[in-house]
Amino acid sequence: MKNVIVIIDGKEIEALAGTTILEAAKTAGIKIPSLCYMNIPEIGFKNDCASCRICVVEVVGRKNLVPACATPVSPGMIINTNTMEVLEKRRNVLELMLSNHPTDCLICAKNGKCDLQTLAMEFGIRDIRFKGKIFEYRREVSPSIVRDLDKCIMCRRCENMCNNIQKCQVLSAVNRGFKSVVSTAFESDLDKTNCTFCGQCVAVCPVGALYEKDYTWGLIKDIANPRKRVTVQVAPAVRVAIGEEFGYEPGTDVTGKLVTALKKLGFDDVFDTDYAADLTIMEEAAEFKQRLEKHLSGDKSVKLPILTSCCPAWVNFIEHHYPDMLDIPSSA
Ligand code: SF4
Ligand code: SF4
Ligand code: SF4
Ligand code: FES
Repeated sequence: MKNVIVIIDGKEIEALAGTTILEAAKTAGIKIPSLCYMNIPEIGFKNDCASCRICVVEVVGRKNLVPACATPVSPGMIINTNTMEVLEKRRNVLELMLSNHPTDCLICAKNGKCDLQTLAMEFGIRDIRFKGKIFEYRREVSPSIVRDLDKCIMCRRCENMCNNIQKCQVLSAVNRGFKSVVSTAFESDLDKTNCTFCGQCVAVCPVGALYEKDYTWGLIKDIANPRKRVTVQVAPAVRVAIGEEFGYEPGTDVTGKLVTALKKLGFDDVFDTDYAADLTIMEEAAEFKQRLEKHLSGDKSVKLPILTSCCPAWVNFIEHHYPDMLDIPSSA
């Protein structure tokens, strides 16, 4: 693809044709705020439905402001990202969102790591000018996921993740207008649907509308109870993944530190799912290889792909590496 030259905030920038204004600005170190937009190229996830309009910018010659996350650059484009009109429109968008949003920050699961809260702070919003009806939705608490859709900003990230990456087809927008929300078919509880509780919708939700159920306080009480023997067994991936939470380079093995920390926290026994996990992986790989070989040799009766409780992200892997395999009967 050819490169194009555009001017953003007076700065000449070379960008790949087809790139969005948001991405082009980012490569030049110009920050445009975003909320609904999310791009994780490593797994082929892109949410660019442009539903929130927080990223609006001015393109010289165009009558209306445009969403930077969904507008591709074109040769000679002159873009202004921080005119007074742009800032006012963004602020209005935020105020309107907040006018239909609970002010629960202090007790919200996303407090301190919420994109909406961060933007409200960045824009210095201290008062909500627009008063009106507040949308209320029943709160659903499953064993692992809480859906508190009063806080949903309709960014559609969860829906995109569930349907296009996880391929579970559980979530979609329901209702109209003010009552629109991302929910399940017939608005059933998650455990009455195909939900695998993979948690990927939770991982991409920018606000506190979806969050994991927290058992921490109950655990603290159990550890403090001298009449209870409390054991912990860690899944293999955690040994590496938790390091990132403490600032280690992704991929750093912190097994020793993890065990020490768990003992210091008061767990009586710490088990590592090492050997059993290795066996599971080997068995699953062997079974998958066997099925794949049969399938490739023309035996279309073989059931594909293999389903494993380890990670539902397998669909994405197959899509990227063996796209032909997705052409399988739905009963498989
Ligand atoms: S979702 Fe964000 S803005 Fe809303 S209550 Fe929670 S922390 Fe506050
Ligand atoms: S937990 Fe996974 S399967 Fe369930 S709704 Fe969320 S993304 Fe879909
Ligand atoms: S639940 Fe969260 S991720 Fe889903 S649309 Fe609402 S705000 Fe976005
Ligand atoms: S981030 Fe661009 S419209 Fe939401």
